[in-house]
Amino acid sequence: MLKLSQPFSGLEQFVEENVPLARYTWYRIGGPARWFVRPKSVEDLQEATRRCAEWNIRPYVLGLGANLLVSDAGVDGAVFRLDAEFWQRVQVKEKNLLEVGGGADMQKLVLRTIRQGLAGVECLAGIPGTIGGGIRMNAGGKFGDIGSIVHSVQLLDAHGNLYTRSKDELVFDYRSTNISAPFILGATLELDEEDPERILRKTKEIWMYKRNTQPLNTKNAGCIFKNPRGLSAGALIDQAGLKGMRVGGAEVSDKHANFIIAHPGCSADDVMTMIKLIREKVFDRNQIHLESEVRIWP
Ligand code: EPU
Repeated sequence: MLKLSQPFSGLEQFVEENVPLARYTWYRIGGPARWFVRPKSVEDLQEATRRCAEWNIRPYVLGLGANLLVSDAGVDGAVFRLDAEFWQRVQVKEKNLLEVGGGADMQKLVLRTIRQGLAGVECLAGIPGTIGGGIRMNAGGKFGDIGSIVHSVQLLDAHGNLYTRSKDELVFDYRSTNISAPFILGATLELDEEDPERILRKTKEIWMYKRNTQPLNTKNAGCIFKNPRGLSAGALIDQAGLKGMRVGGAEVSDKHANFIIAHPGCSADDVMTMIKLIREKVFDRNQIHLESEVRIWP
């Protein structure tokens, strides 16, 4: 095992240097992480977090990389990935309370809770991501969002301190929360008992809606922009006549204009240029500033 230079020395078991991030993103584009940290336990995470604070290294948390654009130059910081077994745990606490690790896969959880006859998670059907990423963004859509099923969250601050926030202390808004801690370690979800057949029917409806309206079999990062209040970013981009527009390997989807598809050879720069262009055109036409929903690193 390569010995690491200063900041993370002694943590070689779970910290690597200069790791390409493209393979960890749905776009399959972007440069390397200066440090790539995959803690196996809370203690590992606390230690790495303290080192970041001590050495003034910015932490980034990677989920499934589905809502993320990493720049071609990569990230000069520490990218954390909570993908060890511990972070993916799902345990029934009480009848309808589930304790879930921040690294658990939302789609696996949808399938599991259907089988268990627990309703609530199915509103996340077809949204790729981890529970931590989902909570951070208050993932959801017109069928509901994750915020409505969160009972409490376990968090870690930038100095390695653990704490919990319960439902009444949390605010979930459209694609945002009031959680400021950099790490979401896990959550307790409060679900409703229901007939698995009924949950499955609802899940299928959501899948069908997405299949009919979104370019699912392409490389994309979901919706690029947030919907401005009361409006649809997709409709605005569509009305500006931008469907099919190309910049290098990036293209505005013909199926849903709020998706930018990455074709082979597409760079993060192509996507960034496209984002800028769409913003300008929609602003010229509607005087509306589109805010990105996709996280852009750095
Ligand atoms: N529309 C157009 N042209 C387009 C796309 C949409 O005219 O190219 C129109 C549609 O006809 C519809 C309206 O715009 O009248 C809204 O479209 P849609 O039903 O597809 O919903 P959306 O607001 O664009 C939101 C979320 C999606 C989520 C869907 C379904 C945002 C930015 N998007 O899309 O979330 O999947 O609802 O729940 O909030 C994501 O967050 O990454 C994402 C894809």
